[in-house]
Amino acid sequence: MMEACATVASVSATKRIAVIAGDGIGKEVIPQAVKAMEAAGAAVELTSFDWGADRYLAGKVTVPSGAFAALARDFDAILVGAFGDPRVPSNIHAKEILLGMRCQMDLFANVRPVRLMDASLCPLKGIEPKDLDFVVIRENTEGVYGDIGGIFKQGTPDEVAIQEDVNTRKGVERIIRYAFEYCATNRKIEGSARRSVLMSDKSNAMTHAGGLWQRVFKEVAAEYPQIETQHMYVDALCMQMVRDPRGFDVIVTNNMFGDIITDLAAGLQGGLGMAASGNLRPEKTSMFEPVHGSAPPIAGKNIANPFGAILTAAMMLGHLGMAGEAQKIETAVLEAVRQKKTTADIGGKLGTREAGEWVAERVSSS
Ligand code: NAD
Ligand code: IPM
Ligand code: MN
Repeated sequence: MMEACATVASVSATKRIAVIAGDGIGKEVIPQAVKAMEAAGAAVELTSFDWGADRYLAGKVTVPSGAFAALARDFDAILVGAFGDPRVPSNIHAKEILLGMRCQMDLFANVRPVRLMDASLCPLKGIEPKDLDFVVIRENTEGVYGDIGGIFKQGTPDEVAIQEDVNTRKGVERIIRYAFEYCATNRKIEGSARRSVLMSDKSNAMTHAGGLWQRVFKEVAAEYPQIETQHMYVDALCMQMVRDPRGFDVIVTNNMFGDIITDLAAGLQGGLGMAASGNLRPEKTSMFEPVHGSAPPIAGKNIANPFGAILTAAMMLGHLGMAGEAQKIETAVLEAVRQKKTTADIGGKLGTREAGEWVAERVSSS
């Protein structure tokens, strides 16, 4: 009886992870992320799924029926690579798998940390790691991503294409509240408290949606008097991000602006190969993926930077309560960056596998 109880306890401590490498460089970087987790001794049980372009082309299935419900029921988290393949120009599989997961599993908070590991990685002059440590909280289920709209008179000179921008009170409020809670409960890497939330929109032009964001931002901010607030139109924010990103702390914005500014922000970190993200729904199965896509031109060449995926795995472990394992992996990546044990995009000479191997070995010996 005693033994049975012990077994149950240890089994439930192991986290069940669904791994979906996807397409292109996703297939190369995710194995490196898996290696790092294994090297850290993380208590994870991994199950791989072959969803992606190959499977879609073979059988026209993007997501097997009932699969999202099964993921939510049977797994603690999902680790994803990337989707996108030139053989599927409609991008239908990426849309149904990635956007499907975000929307149907209601993973409403897309958390994208922006952190500089070494000054040499930032294209801006004089920016040190301590200067660049902010996070973008991107609304992940609404906006222009809802696929609402249509085409009228297609293929004629009078063609009309409509893409609606959906902003619900519930959706706007929960992401803004998430950003304030994140600010109140998370620290910067160097240990100081986070202090401000900046909301970015385009309310000078998109007055209906922007008006809702503005009103909700003010209402929720009033509940957090200790947190400073700021607002920037998203165009001005882009300019400031490349001119001087030092003042940013927590940024909250809608789905599309969040998509765009996090590629820009990835550029400040050393490129898309360095950026991690989590698609979160508190207390529920969440999904983690590097910010980058499938990068078809560099796929299959062993040159893609695996660090975004490896840091994503660390983020996932942290989320699952394995802070020690997450820290080991982050520290090893930091050392790899400092010692230039990296792929060429960030100045090293290693291949994807070799850079992943270096990190895994460093994690094992830490
Ligand atoms: P991308 O992120 O794949 O590539 C943009 C640029 O960054 C390219 O120059 C690429 O070589 C480089 N890059 C990206 N990741 C890198 C890495 N790990 N190491 C080194 N360089 C890296 O974006 P894209 O070219 O706009 O899109 C390609 C495909 O990926 C499209 O089908 C797109 O829809 C898809 N996509 C998918 C996701 C996702 O699944 N999460 C995200 C973005 C784009
Ligand atoms: C991302 C990607 C996706 C998005 C694409 C592939 C639909 O760019 O995760 O950042 O726009 O959200
Ligand atoms: Mn993107």
